[in-house]
Amino acid sequence: MKDYTKYKNLYLLCFTDDTPEDAELLFKNVLSKAKLVCEYDNAENPISMLFLMDANIISNGKELPYYYLYAACTHPEHRGKGIMGRLLEKAKEVALNNGKLGIFLKPAKPSLFDFYAKSDFVPFFNVCKIIKSANEFIRLYSPQITNTTKTTMSLWHSIRKDFLNEFNCDYVDFSQDILTTAADGSIPINSKNFGFVYEIRDNLLLVKEALCKRGYINELMSAISHILQNSHCEDIEIRLHPLLKDELTSFSEANVPFSVMWQPSVATNQCNTNRYHGFAFD
Ligand SMILES: CC(C)(COP(=O)(O)OP(=O)(O)OC[C@H]1O[C@@H](n2cnc3c(N)ncnc32)[C@H](O)[C@@H]1OP(=O)(O)O)[C@@H](O)C(=O)NCCC(=O)NCCS
Repeated sequence: MKDYTKYKNLYLLCFTDDTPEDAELLFKNVLSKAKLVCEYDNAENPISMLFLMDANIISNGKELPYYYLYAACTHPEHRGKGIMGRLLEKAKEVALNNGKLGIFLKPAKPSLFDFYAKSDFVPFFNVCKIIKSANEFIRLYSPQITNTTKTTMSLWHSIRKDFLNEFNCDYVDFSQDILTTAADGSIPINSKNFGFVYEIRDNLLLVKEALCKRGYINELMSAISHILQNSHCEDIEIRLHPLLKDELTSFSEANVPFSVMWQPSVATNQCNTNRYHGFAFD
């Protein structure tokens, strides 16, 4: 896609939290290289679109090819006419024609899980989501300066695999290129026994991915607490590997659906703790 201005304008109209600078970076580096599925009005302006990015699921060391669906949106004046439903059907054809085993995505809002279910995209990956006030979290896990290093998303691409290989689970793997360019603004922190990626959004510290070796959950949480204390954020959200849920000792959290999947063979479409999505571009 050479000139993406029209698509970027539709994106900005639909995703009002994003700045024009964010959208420019996203289109320039990622979406202009992704597969576009789109409908236009009579004047050839896009009115509804979605993008398909290459993503693998690693299963027993094998790379299984999938699409990650991103930036699905319909112009406000054309919503509720079934256009996105049609585009999702077209996306499935594109996936099958390109040898993909399925399509997954993270719904932008919890209410959208039902919308995607109508097109047979069902909960597939779950997450242990921890949401607390900063005060409460810091009281539960006292901040500790540990031997951590601020790293890059490019290096995080391989660091996360080292941690994930210990879990013996299937996991999502975006290319190093996509992870580096699309995750602008995310800060990865690494140490020998744990690692995490965070962003600051207004008053929220959002930990988009948090991983550790078995037995090191308290060290991971104390390092996050240290960042939280220095960030002066009021709230924290941590997206933890669902298999680490049982290691939490200070409180218990339920695993909840995180992202949905469509695949032509529906038999395996069940949320399962042995699958890990982790980092998402939201
Ligand atoms: C979600 C969205 C893409 C749907 O596009 P659309 O072309 O209107 O979709 P369709 O006409 O095929 O389907 C409309 C259905 O989506 C439902 N829907 C739309 N937004 C919804 C939301 N936030 N929560 C729950 N359902 C929603 C409508 O209620 C409608 O349901 P119905 O079929 O029972 O009447 C569109 O509302 C949009 O662009 N939203 C803003 C951007 C966004 O959040 N994108 C999703 C990213 S994961």
